[in-house]
Amino acid sequence: MTSTDHNGFSTSTGSGDSLNEIRTDIVTLTRFILTEQSARAGTTATGDFTLLLNSLQFAFKFIAHNIRRATLVNLIGLAGASNATGDDQKKLDVIGDEIFINAMRASGKVKVLVSEEQEDIIVFEGDGRYCVVCDPIDGSSNLDAGVSVGTIFGVYKLQEGSTGTIEDVLRAGSEMVAAGYTMYGASANLVLTTGHGVNGFTLDNALGEFILTHPDIRIPKSRSIYSVNEGNTVYWDTATREYFESLKIPPAGGKPYSARYIGSMVADMHRTLLYGGIFAYPADVKSKNGKLRLLYECFPMAFLVEQAGGLATNGKQRILDIVPSQIHARSGIFLGSELEVQKVVEYYNKHESV
Ligand code: AHG
Ligand code: MN
Ligand code: MN
Repeated sequence: MTSTDHNGFSTSTGSGDSLNEIRTDIVTLTRFILTEQSARAGTTATGDFTLLLNSLQFAFKFIAHNIRRATLVNLIGLAGASNATGDDQKKLDVIGDEIFINAMRASGKVKVLVSEEQEDIIVFEGDGRYCVVCDPIDGSSNLDAGVSVGTIFGVYKLQEGSTGTIEDVLRAGSEMVAAGYTMYGASANLVLTTGHGVNGFTLDNALGEFILTHPDIRIPKSRSIYSVNEGNTVYWDTATREYFESLKIPPAGGKPYSARYIGSMVADMHRTLLYGGIFAYPADVKSKNGKLRLLYECFPMAFLVEQAGGLATNGKQRILDIVPSQIHARSGIFLGSELEVQKVVEYYNKHESV
């Protein structure tokens, strides 16, 4: 017996007793991208993006595999070095970076690569037309405790006539053509935008394929959850401090907000996209330009959140309008549900006009 479920997938029930319900027409990531591209026929699709995405998928699967066995094969702990922005590298930061670089080189479709773990841009041989920016392992301080970490990435097209320079990536986030992350949790979850909404895929380990499980993710318009490292309160500016204080004062007959902070941007943003609320890492007197990096943390997440119907700001400016001054440039950031982020902007407006 065959029927169609609410996502439009065909399902088959073997014996008529519904315990045996199995999906037989699943949408893999590759199928999804091919369908999306043909739906936009008339564009100049060459198949290059599909091939790039295949290499990205491979990197995510390979990193997921290493994270899953990390404790057993002595992959936890420090590597004994620090990266371009001064963070101590974990062994998995180094391995994740190597996996990512090799996969992007092998795709033949990437010209310029920026990685959190590399001081300079990498320019590959060949005639790749894409630039990829990445945080190979985000939330690595959480690795040894088995808490969810992720990989964040963004994609630009090489500029017309360019042979691959830093100018190809020192561009506003609004120029990205795709972005996403994979969260390595109970399963590997890939969340992707190509500028036409947001879709979520879950890795089926047996099939080795990312399967569309969360079509057309929309972030709730509001939700009483905030996610921020509140230990930094003493360093915050007045607007930020007043805003977060206001969330703890319940409206008449209502409840104060709930606090949720994992300390892995990918995991905190995954929850924020699905449940709603706000995630923030504000600039403060200790980190004058914030902590999170524009190219491979703020831009991809801002792109996703806007495509899901939310907002992303530094308090004064839309994140995607910022042009980074260098590849590891940072920014303060507030992002999430539209109505929650609007409140922060109101606090910033109020304090600017004083
Ligand atoms: P990374 O592991 O790539 O260096 O990123 C860590 C980031 C981000 O994942 C997280 O939101 C933030 O650092 C947490 O910072 P605090 O420990 O200062 O709260
Ligand atoms: Mn990170
Ligand atoms: Mn990282």
